[in-house]
Amino acid sequence: MARKNTQYVCQSCGAVHPRWGGKCDACGEWNCVVEEATLTAPIGGKSSGRKASPGARARLELVALDGESRNLERRITGIAEFDRVVGGGMVPGSALLVGGDPGIGKSTLLLQVTAALAGGAKAIYISGEESIDQVRMRARRLGVAEMPVGLATATDLNEILGALNGPDIPDIVVIDSIQTMYADALDSAPGTVGQVRACAQELIRAAKRRGFTLVLVGHVTKEGTIAGPRVLEHMVDTVLYFEGERGHQFRILRAVKNRFGPTDEIGVFEMTGGGLAEVSNPSQLFLSDRDEPVSGAVVFAGMEGSRPMLVEIQALVAPSPLGTPRRAVVGWDSGRLSMVLAVLEARAGVHLSGNDVYLNVAGGLRISEPAADLAVAAALISSLTGRPVPAGSAVFGEIGLSGEVRPVAQAEARLKETGKLGFSRAITPRLRQTGGVARDLQVREIADLGELVLMFEDEEPTAHAAMARGVDS
Ligand code: TYD
Ligand code: MG
Repeated sequence: MARKNTQYVCQSCGAVHPRWGGKCDACGEWNCVVEEATLTAPIGGKSSGRKASPGARARLELVALDGESRNLERRITGIAEFDRVVGGGMVPGSALLVGGDPGIGKSTLLLQVTAALAGGAKAIYISGEESIDQVRMRARRLGVAEMPVGLATATDLNEILGALNGPDIPDIVVIDSIQTMYADALDSAPGTVGQVRACAQELIRAAKRRGFTLVLVGHVTKEGTIAGPRVLEHMVDTVLYFEGERGHQFRILRAVKNRFGPTDEIGVFEMTGGGLAEVSNPSQLFLSDRDEPVSGAVVFAGMEGSRPMLVEIQALVAPSPLGTPRRAVVGWDSGRLSMVLAVLEARAGVHLSGNDVYLNVAGGLRISEPAADLAVAAALISSLTGRPVPAGSAVFGEIGLSGEVRPVAQAEARLKETGKLGFSRAITPRLRQTGGVARDLQVREIADLGELVLMFEDEEPTAHAAMARGVDS
């Protein structure tokens, strides 16, 4: 028998408090603490014998690190952008969480993944959000309606566990979404932290025990009433975020935690009329195709995990009417921008403190590498002076506080991609050696920001640069 207690759970961070309060001490949010029922017995039957008797401990069996194990062969979907992000295929018995804003394409992606696996594995897709007809309609649109996917609509955890614990062991189970599932042993509404945590716990336990791969879909919302999947991040093996800008058709799948693979890989997709299409050469996607050089736009030769990626960084510097000029950044770290602005001002005499500064990474990509510093600095100087960077160049390099340009990792891969995409020049830090990859490239090594400023003096202002104002060096 399940005995009920209550506890007070923050709907924002999941912290449990002994009594109700207007503010959560753990995360500082207001109006987020809600009374929830707790269980002292597990959900899904088998409630007896759970309390560990002292004797149970003595039976713990210790084994050697090396020994016979179950074969953990990864499940490859064939969707290369997905497989790479999860570390080369999904591990049996593991739990993945796919988070993302509503409408970004999580259900679409996972239906495609499930269908891709369905040929060689037993795949189950359980929807708590859409009806059978709606999922079928989507499957037809994606062209996967013929695949032998086991489809069900359910929100009752016991019903789902019953099916998953049946004689037929599935290979992959998708739960779309964890916020719609409920355990009727708990009083609280679906989507509350208590429900989300309890349902996820039971599903993960079933996955580990029976060796199937579990994929949980979680919505990320700002409202406190729906539990964000943050409380789940500790429970699962892999956390993937599916993101993208509204208005852009590009979608990026990013691993933020992975017990079985790297976390710096991204997968790039494009939302089309027939579902998500893989983008295997994303550089072309994030570069705008224009013939004439424009001031303020610089191509950055970046790395996303193991893959080089060229992206356009755009800066706009304009005189500010405000006492405190505006700084707006999309796709980069605003703290990093402040640093680059300060170093430009202090070390290279580029005065930007009276200007509004807007910085944008094209295509909705988010860059976290310090290697983008030099490209950002170049975009800023270019916009300020109205002079473009030398035509056909890609830029990379980190900037130090004394204004020096520092070497970055994987210079060779960056140069290789630069050449491959038809660029003729690269603006880089001092390179130790390029191993011959830069043979077709004109490489300009820049030691410090002073040198970068001088580089622009050789360039003709662009037609639009009527407001060009000097940079004192
Ligand atoms: P969906 O997968 O339902 O998002 P989520 O599960 O993250 O809430 O995606 C919904 C959006 O994707 C919707 O705006 C329609 C669009 N879409 C397409 O553009 N093409 C397609 O083939 C499909 C299935 C969806
Ligand atoms: Mg959905």
